[in-house]
Parts: sequence; structure tokens; C-alpha cells
Amino acid sequence: MARPHGIFTRFPILPNLLGHPDAFNDKEQFVIVADTITLGFTVSIPATGQVISWDRGVPPANALKAPGLSGESAIHVRALRSLQVGRPRSHNQLTAKLCFGNSRPVRFSATSTQKEPPDQMIKTIEWTDEGISMLDQRLLPTEEKYLMLRSYEEVAEAIKKMVVRGAPAIGVSAAMGLALGARQSVGASVADLEDDFDYMCKVMSETRPTAVNLFWAIERMRARLRREKSLTKDPLEIKERLVEEALSIFREDIEANRALGRFGAELLSDGDTVLTHCNAGALATAGDYGTALGVVRGAIDAGKHIAVIADETRPFLQGLRLTAWELAKDNIPVTVITDNMAGHVMKSGKINAVVVGADRVAANGDAANKIGTYMVAVLADKHDIPFYVAAPISTLDLSLKSGNEIPIEERNAREVTHIKEHQLAPDGVGVQNPAFDVTPNELITAIITDKGVARAPYVESLRALVEGNAMGTNG
Ligand code: MRU
Repeated sequence: MARPHGIFTRFPILPNLLGHPDAFNDKEQFVIVADTITLGFTVSIPATGQVISWDRGVPPANALKAPGLSGESAIHVRALRSLQVGRPRSHNQLTAKLCFGNSRPVRFSATSTQKEPPDQMIKTIEWTDEGISMLDQRLLPTEEKYLMLRSYEEVAEAIKKMVVRGAPAIGVSAAMGLALGARQSVGASVADLEDDFDYMCKVMSETRPTAVNLFWAIERMRARLRREKSLTKDPLEIKERLVEEALSIFREDIEANRALGRFGAELLSDGDTVLTHCNAGALATAGDYGTALGVVRGAIDAGKHIAVIADETRPFLQGLRLTAWELAKDNIPVTVITDNMAGHVMKSGKINAVVVGADRVAANGDAANKIGTYMVAVLADKHDIPFYVAAPISTLDLSLKSGNEIPIEERNAREVTHIKEHQLAPDGVGVQNPAFDVTPNELITAIITDKGVARAPYVESLRALVEGNAMGTNG
């Protein structure tokens, strides 16, 4: 059964849709219900004031042949022979092909103007009455399985084992895990709850060291507890406020990535091909847009045609398994390459921009991201291709002067020597498995955040964004 894509209404004018500028005016409404498109829309015909609508389902060929139509628009409307609707290329974009009497099919695409983030196509993490539901990313793309995590320990383990991964998703998961743990705390007083909570924070903070979003989320939950503690002596009340805080972190992540996507969209041109490394998409965040892929989705939603080349991203294969999976699901053109093909592909002129995510950005703009990102940045520099880092403000760590201070996680050698159960390397050879590298700021064309686009010198522009000063933004 297809997962719902969400409901979108109020698409803007489709100019010259019927070869007549006024034929469909500004009242088109589309309702996208599932993978297999069912469609409904309402069209008002200005010449007659008539409103024609379908609730759902591809309309019958003569559906627009409403009685009483007259005038120029009506002639064109009546000539509609068939309407085929494709899957949306992204959450709020619809493409369709209209056929008229004797004419060739006319293609159009429409973009939703709705501001609210839609019901997510990909639900990375979800707070439910039963516990925290998490898509097990280790099994993708062959299996789409959701785990139900019922304790903070299970959430911590899920982060460690990469059931959930990607800096913002790790932060959101930790916040939800702490809220769940607090709710389950049996302490009778606020002091007991705080004791338990401190311990849970410690466990959570030992899961993965590089993504600063983890520590950011933990600190935010702690701050909420402190605030509530000064307002009430009732632990139950505080537990509910902590759940609210975790849900706000979840929602804000989706909103931040939407904002980041809009800023980033301006940096891409219609027809561009973007190279990305690892997975910085819906799967790496609370869901919906993602960061680097949020920029791609933002550009597509602004009406641009964008294709993606995804590095496979050894050893955990986030590009091959996850980026390719979520883009294909969204009907965004994606081509996978192995990591060692990036230079060749850039040299052949096929890449217009590189967009990657980040796990931690230091005050000087040095950015830690998935191992191999640095190599891609050097190649982009060599080929004069803009290299963008897309990350929400929660990924900035201005307490660190430079990337040299960012802790780099070293993961199990088995991720390198094996693919699943299959051994590739000889027994006993030395292995290194740093999970991240740091791209120096001079290789970064711009850092796209939810508050605007920062450019060098980053010490000033990033600080300005964090302090809410517009000097670092695009405009
Ligand atoms: O080891 P992972 O899969 O957690 O690494 C993820 C990345 O490196 C992402 O690019 C980064 O977290 C940004 S996610 C929006």
C-alpha cells in the first residue's frame, strides 16, 4: 500500500494551459493522495464564473465539458481530450500531460504555494502513543521496516547502530528519546526526575561524537527542564513539557529545512545537475525535505529541473542506498556513481554544483561531513564547480574556532572489511574507519542555512546569521 504523500491545495496559475491565458485562472486545486496519483481539482472559468471540480480520481475525458459554458475559454476547455497525471516530482509539485482535440499533448507542472509542511512522504522518526517509530535505515533500500522503540536506551542504541543517522535526525531522535525516558521515570519528585534525566543525557551524549545536533538537542531539553523546574513542583507536568519540547524540535527541523531549501534554491539554475555525497535528505532529518537534498527539492519546487548524481559513499553506502532511494521515491532524477568516479564526472562537465550536508560547522566555516566530502571539495575546486554546504543553524558550533577541534568518530573496522555478512578484506589487515572528514572553509563557496546564505569570511557571516543579523544572508 502506498504511503500518503499528503494533501496540497492552491496551486498557482498555470499560464497558457489551454493556449488561452485566462482559460484556467487562479483557482486550480490539486489533491495528491498517494503514490498512485489520484487527483482532484477545482477550476473556475472566469469567462462564465463557472466552477468545475473533481474530488479525486483522474477525471473522465469529457469531465470539463460542463453544460452552459460559453465564450473563448469554454471552447478550449471543451476540447480537452484526456489528462494524464504523473507522480509528483517532489512533495508539492505536480506534473501532468493534457491532450486537446487535435493538438499535441501539453505538459505542465504546478507548484503548491501552501506554506505548511505537508504530511511527510518519508517518516524518518515519529512520536506515537506506543513509543518512537523509526524507519530502520540499515535495511534500505530493500526493506522498508519501522521499529517501535519503547525506551530511551533503545533510542540511544538505534543512534549508535545507525538505525537512524544524519546530524539533524540524530538530534531529533535524542530529544524524543529523552522525552520518552523522562515520561517513564518513576521518581516521585522533581529532584528524582532531574537525576534520572541527567543520567539519560549522559547515555545519549555517548552515542555518536561528531554531529553537534545531538549535543544541541540534549542541551535544549536540559534547558527546558531547568525552566519548567522553576515554574512547577509537579514532575508529571515537567514530563509533559519535555514531550512538547521534543515535538517542537521535530517540527522546527522540518521548517528549518524548508527555509534552507528556499535559500539554496536561488543558487541553482534550471537544468543543473548537482553532485551530492552521503545522504543529507529526508532520511537524515526529521523527514520531508532534508538539507542538501532540501536545496534540490527547493529548486524543483521553484519550478527548476534539477538532476542529482549521488556518490555511493563507502563504507556505509548512504548515497547508494539512501539518497538514491529517497530521490527515486520522489521521482527526482538520480544517477549513482562510485566515489572514485567523481573526478572523471566533474572533468567531463556534467556537474554544475556540489551540495552536501554537515555534521558540525566550526566558527571559521570548516565543515565536518561524511568521510570523502573533503576529497569531493578538492575536486570541485580543481574544476571550478561551486561547493555548497547546507546545514541548519543547529549544526553550527561557534564554540569551536576551527575544524581541527571537531571530534571525528572512528567506527568499527568491520564496516570497511565487510559488506553485510560478506568479507572483502583479508583477515587481520590494518583498517582505518574515520566516519567524517573536515572540509576547510576556503573550499566552501557558501554555507546555506535556514537563516540565510553565509559566505567568506565565515567568522563574521556565520555569527551574523546566528545573531539574527541579515548581513550574512543572500540578499
Ligand atoms: O554517519 P552518518 O550517516 O550519520 O553521516 C551523515 C552525514 O554525514 C550527513 O551528510 C550529515 O549528517 C548531514 S545530514 C543532513
